[in-house]
Amino acid sequence: MEIKKNFSLKYHNTFGIDVKAKQYIAVTSIEEIKHVLKRFYASELFILSGGSNILLTKDIEKTVVHIQSLGKEIIEENEDVVRIRVQSGENWHQFVMWCIERNYGGLENLSLIPGCVGTSPIQNIGAYGVELQDVFHSCRALHVQSVAEEEFKRADCKFGYRNSIFKNSAKGQYIITSVDFLLTKKNHQLKTSYGAIQEELKKPFFNGEISIKTIAQAVISIRQSKLPNPKEIGNSGSFFKNPVVDVSFLKFIQNKYPEIPFYTINEEEVKIPAGWLIEKAGFKGMRINDAGVHKKQALVLVNYGNATGEEILAISKQIQLKIKEEFNILLEAEVNII
Ligand code: EPU
Repeated sequence: MEIKKNFSLKYHNTFGIDVKAKQYIAVTSIEEIKHVLKRFYASELFILSGGSNILLTKDIEKTVVHIQSLGKEIIEENEDVVRIRVQSGENWHQFVMWCIERNYGGLENLSLIPGCVGTSPIQNIGAYGVELQDVFHSCRALHVQSVAEEEFKRADCKFGYRNSIFKNSAKGQYIITSVDFLLTKKNHQLKTSYGAIQEELKKPFFNGEISIKTIAQAVISIRQSKLPNPKEIGNSGSFFKNPVVDVSFLKFIQNKYPEIPFYTINEEEVKIPAGWLIEKAGFKGMRINDAGVHKKQALVLVNYGNATGEEILAISKQIQLKIKEEFNILLEAEVNII
């Protein structure tokens, strides 16, 4: 394990922000992670995975530990289902494609999400009607103080909308080393209720075929049409969470904006698309220097090249202020701001 000093993180965060790590170590196995945890105090470490859900606003005055452990292993299977253990450093989308090729169902709606497997439980990644928790069996993690290996079952993770125990009481306490997924081998539960998927699957290209493969293709095509590719334009996907409000509050906003879209959560609560609020407030396509709001999806903040994290943060604060003023809604960042 080589320790690099003053290491640029520009190519290790999908926003493409050029900040430096005081020290940087890439680790490729659980043994190496354990070794680092024994050698440094936990407070001196900064754990980095795919870098797809962070906004770096300053240099990291710690030792950045970049998790790059690879491997996929079938733990158990029968005629119907398979349990696969995947090491944290595996690229998420490559893993999804690996499953589609083998006809393992459950992950197709989560195609093309940037990032790595190990961080997927932290924010319970989700898209097009599916969340990680729907296919999650368990994960293994190292406690940063004791270096003991622990297992978290689904119930232990306390999953919620873009939320889990790893963002709350267990925050900063664990390094997730692998995730077990429970996937179907036949009778796949195809989830096509999301309007955009239904529209996409009607296209002649799909020839009426609805399968895990065509759903994955549809999701890839929808995402490519409105979400910027981080390799071309730096971004971290949705910058804010979609706010959850009371139905009575929605009715109040509907007096002024009868067209406001919403998703029903239960009898009392609805989720409002933050992208709609941000567009309505006039920010869509806005640009200040190299920092901006994506032209096709207002929920995505972008770095056109050399933006600093602070410039992107400033835009996000401007958006929060205006949305509070205009709609009395406080937008909460989904991205971790460092
Ligand atoms: N909308 C606008 N203007 C915009 C963007 C959106 O009016 O600029 C409105 C439209 O009415 C649209 C609705 O918002 O129908 C919802 O937009 P979209 O389907 O693009 O989804 P989203 O709510 O913006 C969420 C997730 C995405 C996920 C998609 C699809 C969050 C914070 N984001 O976005 O997840 O891919 O749904 O399921 O829940 C991510 O977390 O990084 C992410 C990309």
